[in-house]
Amino acid sequence: MRCNLFLAFFLIALNTQANETDAARKRWAQSPHGPFLERILPPGFEPELLPEPGSRGAQLTLRYCVQCHNLANPAMHAAARWPAVVERMVLRMEGRGNMGKLMHEMMAGVVAPEPQETKALIAYLRKHAQRPLDAKKIPELNTAAGESFRVACNQCHALPDPRRYTAKEWPAVVARMQKNMLWMNRVVASKPLPGELQLKIEDINAFLVRHARK
Ligand code: HEC
Ligand code: HEC
Repeated sequence: MRCNLFLAFFLIALNTQANETDAARKRWAQSPHGPFLERILPPGFEPELLPEPGSRGAQLTLRYCVQCHNLANPAMHAAARWPAVVERMVLRMEGRGNMGKLMHEMMAGVVAPEPQETKALIAYLRKHAQRPLDAKKIPELNTAAGESFRVACNQCHALPDPRRYTAKEWPAVVARMQKNMLWMNRVVASKPLPGELQLKIEDINAFLVRHARK
């Protein structure tokens, strides 16, 4: 009985959270800057994918980090990178960030975290961060065979550790990143253009497969 009651509360809590996320998404999607905001981060990282979903950190992320764009994945950035990103975002939430006019128009209804909430947010994102690659352990990175990976995969975040996934798992992650690149408008030319770098997915996959987790 007590168990059921707990479950009921848990489900209500989850539902409220989903509604808040939906409401935030609607707000920015309907803003005149929606098309820009929509492209900042890709869709698809849904609230239920957050690690430790019941934790305070996950809840703060859901409260504050969907107000202007899609939900960020804590695994996107390495731990060392998160504090600077969060601080940039908090300044904006306080109305003091760059992109002043645009963000000002967006500000109606945007709430900013308290300093101790900011700390908890940073701690949570760092705890579940990306583990970056240790270049010293992979000398091949700086050879021609590592070039496609090296250039394409650190446009948005630190180069990920290839041991994060097995050889079998990597191609699906790379395919999702290809979508992210299109979504976020950061494409490395897919057609050969003189003087422009090409996105060579086969080379990237081959590199990751060679250095993947066994
Ligand atoms: C007031 C609006 C606003 C809120 C709220 C907001 N962001 Fe952002 N975010 C932006 C804007 C604008 C950009 C694009 C410009 C830039 O990168 O600074 C951005 C870009 C990003 C990016 C992609 C750029 C990068 O450095 O990787 C990440 C990741 C991100 N935000 C994470 C977060 C997190 C985490 C939170 C919650 C702590 C958050 N955002 C809350 C406005 C916001
Ligand atoms: C256009 C920006 C962009 C580029 C370029 C990019 N990523 Fe990402 N990456 C993201 C975003 C956004 C996330 C978080 C959302 C997600 O996981 O799709 C992410 C998350 C990740 C993660 C952590 C999430 C997980 O599933 O483990 C890994 C690993 C990763 N990227 C690998 C790569 C690789 C390999 C490449 C090169 C093929 C790459 N990324 C290129 C934007 C990018």
